[in-house]
Amino acid sequence: MSPTTQAPSPLRVAVVGAGFIASRGHLPALQHRTDTEVVALVDVNAERSLAVAEQFRIPATFTDYATMLREAQPDLVIIGTPNVLHAPQTLAAIEAGAHVLVEKPMATSAVDAQRMADAARAAGRVLTIGLHNRYRPEMNYLKGLVDAGELGRIYYAKISLLRRRGIPGFGSWFTNKDLAGGGAIMDIGVHMVDLALWLMGSPTPVSVMGVTYAEFGPRARALGGWGVDAPPAGASTADGRFDVDDLAAGMVRFDNGATLMVDISWAGYSPSEEHLHLLGTEGGAEIHGADRQAPTQTPLKLYHDYMGRPTETLPVFPPLPASEGSMVQQLDTLISAIRHGTPLRVTPEQVVVVTAILESLQESARLGRSVDIELPRPAL
Ligand SMILES: NC(=O)c1ccc[n+]([C@@H]2O[C@H](COP(=O)([O-])OP(=O)(O)OC[C@H]3O[C@@H](n4cnc5c(N)ncnc54)[C@H](O)[C@@H]3O)[C@@H](O)[C@H]2O)c1
Repeated sequence: MSPTTQAPSPLRVAVVGAGFIASRGHLPALQHRTDTEVVALVDVNAERSLAVAEQFRIPATFTDYATMLREAQPDLVIIGTPNVLHAPQTLAAIEAGAHVLVEKPMATSAVDAQRMADAARAAGRVLTIGLHNRYRPEMNYLKGLVDAGELGRIYYAKISLLRRRGIPGFGSWFTNKDLAGGGAIMDIGVHMVDLALWLMGSPTPVSVMGVTYAEFGPRARALGGWGVDAPPAGASTADGRFDVDDLAAGMVRFDNGATLMVDISWAGYSPSEEHLHLLGTEGGAEIHGADRQAPTQTPLKLYHDYMGRPTETLPVFPPLPASEGSMVQQLDTLISAIRHGTPLRVTPEQVVVVTAILESLQESARLGRSVDIELPRPAL
């Protein structure tokens, strides 16, 4: 008789937060997997979680997170709640013995992010952060080129993610500093800072000079995208709290001499654009994303000298089917790390550094001067 191998039982997954990223990102990505089973959905808004649970055929819903951890005993918790909850919910999940995928930003402070990284390491649990842009084909390809030395030493990088009208709603949690930890810089800046650091080889930041503005949000202007799009009839701007940035910019210096220029906004009289530039000693790269527009097949341009002439190369990336999208690849990588101990693409230690930059840039803006970046020390 030939030996038979039994497939391991599916990972029991709980999703926390039944909002946009859960219903449009994680649950669709989980839907067709056979190695996972979504056993619980948690949201303080019971009506929302019931509707989403029905759509994705999730057997149990909870309004209380601690009760869910106790009763459902998930193997993996996916957290898609307002930013300030990321740290306490991650720590509670790890304490309950679960692995965690927490949405970006990892936390609202570097100290909290470090605590999460420490807890995961101490408990032997896998923790990753939903910075799924690292899985985009052009990013993946560029990372391979940088690591192979094709651009030489990266000494300068620029990131720019600007939206024309993209303030998330009128009075949503995204614009409340206590819940979000920051505005455009925490919400969309986190993706770009993370990509730049990863592509630059994770240098250690030493200082940042930052500025922030809030020119549109406080006037309930340039609303769009998500949340509640327009002030309700009769509402004044005072009804919608906005105490975060709608534009943030800065210059980060690293211990290897490299510099990163940061340019992020939710709203402004400027074209919507997404740019990432890397300048190396042997070549350069430029990524043009069309944020929230149709993706281009040639998002990456490479600059080299070839036979003595300045040369530009445009690698082509055919559109990926949804089944190979970045949210699916993110899960594949995580589940393989849980089951087989394979490396994560997005490690907690890397994102502690990203969080420190986001936090310090805001602190620099508040103080009106450059600040040194002090990274929290790992506990182990
Ligand atoms: N990776 C990405 O590209 C991406 C995209 C969008 C959002 N996000 C992140 O996902 C997170 C959620 O964003 P969203 O757009 O889904 O927001 P959302 O407002 O649509 O959903 C958040 C949900 O969390 C629920 N919630 C609030 N407090 C809770 C609690 N204590 N316990 C359980 N549920 C609670 C809310 O009721 C809401 O349904 C944020 O951190 C955001 O930055 C990431």
